[in-house]
Amino acid sequence: MTFLEFKNLVSKELDLRLDAYKLNRVERRIFSLMRRHQVEDLNDCYRRLQEDPSFKESFLKHFTINTSEFFRNPTSFKFLETVVLPGIFTRNNKVKIWSAACSNGSEPYSVAILINEMGIPPDRYEILATDIDHFVLEAAKKGIYNFQALLRVENKIEKKYFARVGEDQFKLDDRIKKQVQFEHQDLLKEKFSAGWNLIICRNFFIYLTKQGKDSLTKRFSRALAPGGILFLGNTEFIFEPSIFGLEKLNGSFYEKSS
Ligand SMILES: C[S@@+](CC[C@H](N)C(=O)[O-])C[C@H]1O[C@@H](n2cnc3c(N)ncnc32)[C@H](O)[C@@H]1O
Repeated sequence: MTFLEFKNLVSKELDLRLDAYKLNRVERRIFSLMRRHQVEDLNDCYRRLQEDPSFKESFLKHFTINTSEFFRNPTSFKFLETVVLPGIFTRNNKVKIWSAACSNGSEPYSVAILINEMGIPPDRYEILATDIDHFVLEAAKKGIYNFQALLRVENKIEKKYFARVGEDQFKLDDRIKKQVQFEHQDLLKEKFSAGWNLIICRNFFIYLTKQGKDSLTKRFSRALAPGGILFLGNTEFIFEPSIFGLEKLNGSFYEKSS
């Protein structure tokens, strides 16, 4: 079978919108997984996906790249802390924040830490965090991280919000954990709720085709409240934000026109 045929069958079998992802990246990841599992060809791969649940699990895990860390790209988080969040909390009494494709939770928890440091009471905001990968969501709910994930956490923040629970394991404080609600969601298929003051979707657009990115940008823009902010990854840009009713603020921050 050709790769295209395989991709179409697998999209149905796994209920994934593989078309929105960049094809050569999808292809590279699938062939590397096949080599690792000594799968002969695409027919064999498809058969294994149908018959072997543990292979299916590896396939899904391999496909979604979960790299994340607290305060990833500190300069952007500084801008979030000093400009974006203060502006949002001044303009709105109740604030809705959504971390889309949140991976292991270090991104939404970083935001919760910043808001706590601003002294804002928890009843003024809600933070939703979603991802397609059930495994990372379970890890996120546990809130236990290794040293690598905490590399960009300042000492005073680490002391205040993390407790060492093993040789290389740090547990996030329950006060922060309970401020983030995790849910499973496929960004390419499921409907979005509206009224978000801040949508954070970082390091996910890079995996999508131009069409996939445009469609997601349009849907995010609709989901933002007027004046709401979209925060992308440091290598992700929207070339003509005005088409989507957005205006570039700074770096990877875009504001929805009121
Ligand atoms: C590289 S991580 C980014 C994590 C975090 N936003 C950051 O920048 O540190 C990409 C995440 O996208 C998730 N993902 C992939 N396809 C998805 C989809 N269709 N819907 C929702 N999440 C998806 C993966 O499971 C992974 O956790």
